[in-house]
Amino acid sequence: MTIPLEVHLDAETQESALRADVVAGLTDTPKWLPPKWFYDARGSELFERITELPEYYPTRAERTILAEHAGDIARITGARTLIELGSGYSTKTRLLLDALRPASFVPMDVSPTALEAAAAHLAVDFPDLPVHGIVGDITRHLGFLPAPAGRLVAFLGGTIGNFTPAERARFLTDVRAVLQPGEHLLLGTDLVKSPRMLVRAYDDASGVTAEFDKNVLRVLNHHLQADFDVDGFAHVALWDADHEWIEMRLRARWPMRVTIPAVDLVVEFASGEEIRTEISAKFRREGVAKELSEAGFTLDHWWTDPDGRFALSLARATPSR
Ligand code: SAH
Ligand code: TRP
Repeated sequence: MTIPLEVHLDAETQESALRADVVAGLTDTPKWLPPKWFYDARGSELFERITELPEYYPTRAERTILAEHAGDIARITGARTLIELGSGYSTKTRLLLDALRPASFVPMDVSPTALEAAAAHLAVDFPDLPVHGIVGDITRHLGFLPAPAGRLVAFLGGTIGNFTPAERARFLTDVRAVLQPGEHLLLGTDLVKSPRMLVRAYDDASGVTAEFDKNVLRVLNHHLQADFDVDGFAHVALWDADHEWIEMRLRARWPMRVTIPAVDLVVEFASGEEIRTEISAKFRREGVAKELSEAGFTLDHWWTDPDGRFALSLARATPSR
């Protein structure tokens, strides 16, 4: 069975956005690529495998919190519509759906394959639940979210940490702008902890994360006819203590010249030169409360797993003065 998706990202728009990002990022010093291009079909599947790795604790920690507090979330919010941003396969979301039993579920993600898989799986366990999947960019398409009364917006997985602080402020303000006072945001944030444990979560022994990181080069090869030698790059994850974020990079193992015909670009790499592919910021309670408040939310509940690794914040859209 196929479930229709509402699509705001057609192939043409995506390709032109990819071209613009690649030119901006790979002609800059140091080089960078934006993270949303990880998530083609293979990337979404690799991420789902990351969530099952022994080293990748965030998913299990967040699931523990959801299992413990889904009932509280349902009682406090009384939400009738659950919206999920960057929903991926919506695996943990089932705990929320079980407790909320909402009138509808609206997942939004850049990855149509992840949304299709999520909708197909949910149809089995929640046959009466209308699922309205939206293929969209959460930094651009929040205005397309439906607006019935009583919404809960979930943004899980610590994905907010993949934005820079400025992008985060803008995003939270944009989410607040589509909500009515009293509607809720459920935000998952990974917490500051020992660098050793953090780095292991982003550089696992079996190399799945390395494959995921390098997948962005395959996306460029596929969509822009680039000729990246994917194995010529090594995955690097390091802890930036000043910014309190994990930084992912791809490091050229030897000098390379890469041709990207779709943007008419030749990119030179010195041996050891790096491309920054992703940050994953880690948080503290005070910081989350402050950022939420600055965006017009009131932090009503802060829940962590027993080991204090991950936090779920339940925030309410503050009436504007
Ligand atoms: N919520 C899931 C998946 C997290 S991975 C979990 O907690 O396990 C991040 C997800 O966000 C991916 O599914 C990716 O496709 C999506 N994503 C990343 N950037 C996005 C953007 N700009 N707009 C919409 N979705 C995005
Ligand atoms: N939202 C995830 C996180 O920050 C994304 C992620 C996990 C990721 N592992 C990664 C992104 C490795 C790039 C590389 O935890």
